Amino acid sequence: MSVILENVSKIFDDPSRKDGHIKALDQVSLEIKEGELVTFLGPSGCGKTTTLRIVSGFENPTEGKVFISGKLVNDIPPNKRDTSMVFQSYAIFPHMSVEQNIGFGLELKGHAKKEVKEESRRIMEVMGLLPLAKRRPDQLSGGQQQRVALARAIINKPSVLLFDEPLSNLDAKLRDQMRLEIRRIQQAFGITSIYVTHDQIEAMTVSDRIVVMNNGRVIQIGTPFEIYSRPAKRFVADFIGRVNFIPCETVSIRGEEAAASFKGVEISANSHTGDLADGSPCILAVRPESLVLEPAEKKTKSIIGGKIEKAVYLGSVVEYEIDAGLDSPILAVSHDPVVNGFFNQGDMVAINFPKTAAHAMASE
Ligand SMILES: Nc1ncnc2c1ncn2[C@@H]1O[C@H](COP(=O)(O)OP(=O)(O)OP(=O)(O)O)[C@@H](O)[C@H]1O
Ligand SMILES: [Mg+2]
Repeated sequence: MSVILENVSKIFDDPSRKDGHIKALDQVSLEIKEGELVTFLGPSGCGKTTTLRIVSGFENPTEGKVFISGKLVNDIPPNKRDTSMVFQSYAIFPHMSVEQNIGFGLELKGHAKKEVKEESRRIMEVMGLLPLAKRRPDQLSGGQQQRVALARAIINKPSVLLFDEPLSNLDAKLRDQMRLEIRRIQQAFGITSIYVTHDQIEAMTVSDRIVVMNNGRVIQIGTPFEIYSRPAKRFVADFIGRVNFIPCETVSIRGEEAAASFKGVEISANSHTGDLADGSPCILAVRPESLVLEPAEKKTKSIIGGKIEKAVYLGSVVEYEIDAGLDSPILAVSHDPVVNGFFNQGDMVAINFPKTAAHAMASE
């Protein structure tokens, strides 16, 4: 089932503010397609939970419309919306076994005992919970409890699954496993899902598309690849991964491509944000892993020269901070130092970047 938000805004009373209210959501519009998993990513307070609560019906929008499966649901109460929420705290019943916890929702709906048992067993099998069927929550690990919570949400066959930071209580290793598991199960059952996290790696791993939010607004919607390689705004580039911003001037825009100049040297960029005019200032966003370093003396087609300020050897990669006379050092990551060699602090280097690495954007 699809979910559509149309110009949704939400204003809360907030006596601590001068004007007495806060705009938690500001004209949010987006469409989540059937079977898709879309993640909301953004800093604390940007409106992620509020959006989920509006989709589930626990909160009403101040303005705008919410459609589930093409039907306007603004006036439909949460229990009639066919959505299911998986929280950060698992909310499973401590006095019930795993199997009872999972079957509870169906029992409540008045399904026959035999049917509840069969359906619970089927879900437990898919989720690897069968061996734990008789255990109580306090006899389970954090990850197992999380799986029970997920099974409980799925057994109701909701049209839409809503996840609010479901993994933030787990340790790093379990989180890695569980995010793959959530993705596998969501795809296996083909459930339209909205996922909230502030962990960018988690967002990249589980999502078909990512919605980047800030201050109650949608800043960009795109696949993980688009968000990472073609950020629409400086905020997005900065928020997701590490990035270098190189101040330039726009020389020309040719279709998808842009030419910019840095201190008189022309640099090609494979993409741009579409809001640049010839002669206007721009910034080139370049990821550290896209830069190619060469010894300074080989300086053939080098664009920027610099001095290695810091070299951190991490085995599979070396991370550099390079002083190139910009406001902040240029970050570069080079792979496989065993094969490619590496530079030391104080070395002079030429910094090159392939055209595909540069993305031109308006300097805000
Ligand atoms: N019931 C409420 N009353 C007043 N203000 C609220 C209420 N719920 C949320 N807010 C405010 O609305 C804004 C958005 O809150 P929301 O919980 O959606 O943020 P979030 O993106 O989920 O943040 P976090 O990552 O910290 O969970 C915040 O400024 C918050 O303080
Ligand atoms: Mg939240």
